[in-house]
Amino acid sequence: MAKPRTAYVCNECGAQAAQWVGRCAECGAWNTLVETVIAPVTTTARSPRSGSFSGHSDSRVQRLAEITLDEATRLPSGIGELDRVLGGGLVTGSVVLIGGDPGIGKSTILLQTQAYLAREQRALYVSGEESPQQVGLRAQRLDLNRNDLHLLPETCVEQILAVAATEQPQVMIIDSIQTVFTERLQSAPGSVAQVRESAAQFTRFAKRSGTAIFLVGHVTKEGAIAGPRVLEHMVDTVLYFEGESNSRYRVMRAVKNRFGPVNELGVFAMTETGLKGVSNPSAIFLSRHEAPVAGSVIMVTWEGTRPLLVEIQALVDGCQGHHPRRITLGLEQNRLAMLLAVLHRHGGIAMGDQDVYVNAVGGVRIGETAADLAVLCAALSSFRDRSLPVDLVVFGEVGLAGEIRPVPNGEERLREAAKQGFKRAIIPRANAPRQGVLKDMVIQPVTRLSEVLDSL
Ligand code: TYD
Ligand code: MG
Repeated sequence: MAKPRTAYVCNECGAQAAQWVGRCAECGAWNTLVETVIAPVTTTARSPRSGSFSGHSDSRVQRLAEITLDEATRLPSGIGELDRVLGGGLVTGSVVLIGGDPGIGKSTILLQTQAYLAREQRALYVSGEESPQQVGLRAQRLDLNRNDLHLLPETCVEQILAVAATEQPQVMIIDSIQTVFTERLQSAPGSVAQVRESAAQFTRFAKRSGTAIFLVGHVTKEGAIAGPRVLEHMVDTVLYFEGESNSRYRVMRAVKNRFGPVNELGVFAMTETGLKGVSNPSAIFLSRHEAPVAGSVIMVTWEGTRPLLVEIQALVDGCQGHHPRRITLGLEQNRLAMLLAVLHRHGGIAMGDQDVYVNAVGGVRIGETAADLAVLCAALSSFRDRSLPVDLVVFGEVGLAGEIRPVPNGEERLREAAKQGFKRAIIPRANAPRQGVLKDMVIQPVTRLSEVLDSL
């Protein structure tokens, strides 16, 4: 096979150079040149655009009505929480990227999944990261049936695809995308060019053959230069595996999914025998205090398709320096600054000389505005050193005019809180359920920040 021609292409302006240089001669941008295949030679990979979804590559205009719409076939992974983030199981021919810090449990969950799938499908585990012995030991530790587990220790993409073409697995796991390389490029494995081109080849193979492929991608602390980010647009589904290193709980989040809802959350616990789905995730994000403490409030957040109770903690403390700190963990920092300004302007409560720290307990990340009211209540509670009732939940968006705005799925949030034993709620008026819907709960609907302050 003739070597395909490669060139260094600027990510900013698309200019080509024969050699790598630090600065693009065309647009002057620094460090934007990436080695790229210019003229692919193999017929199977004739054009990067040849891989349409179900393997048809006839370039003929079709009416959408002519296309037969088969329901995507989904394979259960054997782990309910993983199926949930996938949108109801693994879709054949799809490419799923699983990103996460090293040691978070990516290899573990995929080996468990392979073992489950292998009972009825052909599933191939391609390990470029660990030796067969290491994978074998893990399988033994996880108490999996090693007879069913097929392993390929290989890092060359062309070799892997040649084996896959003969073995024809229904599911293939590439662990990890940073360790494989394609012969078409000279760059080192793990470089942006290699990661991107290797993933493109796997994606084309998946679409052509109907094999579902899991790609493992490490997220590196320092900017994730060749990490999963560069692949997000190429694959069908992107799952990020997160968790505090000192906690045994892991959260998997779908940040992109062509076959299901995004922001869906799966919760797992790392046990002696691998990862297990957590069936009642609300319970783990609440730290049950024996007595009420100041600065703590429970909110109901909405993650994907289900509500989740999360404790928001705040600490407001006299500022020692000139610049008061606004620090958030699991919440957006700018939003905190904005909320404190609203509290000052519309509530007359100034924290300009205070450091404010806010934390979402359990390492969960909350991106939605429904946390606003909880953040304000927690900060206020800590500032005044007065605890809020332990059976109270709060949620709602706070606007710049001091108004409390509704959030989606209000009633479902309240139901979840009631199920977990909460008896009181402060919520936006527009989210208040009809009378008698939640009998055991005292619900206080609010429209203005001043009403919240009065009721606290
Ligand atoms: P691993 O799947 O190797 O992480 P990744 O592939 O994301 O780098 O997970 C390794 C961690 O999981 C390691 O710290 C040990 C722990 N672990 C358990 O606690 N129980 C188990 O059954 C297994 C297999 C691993
Ligand atoms: Mg691993």
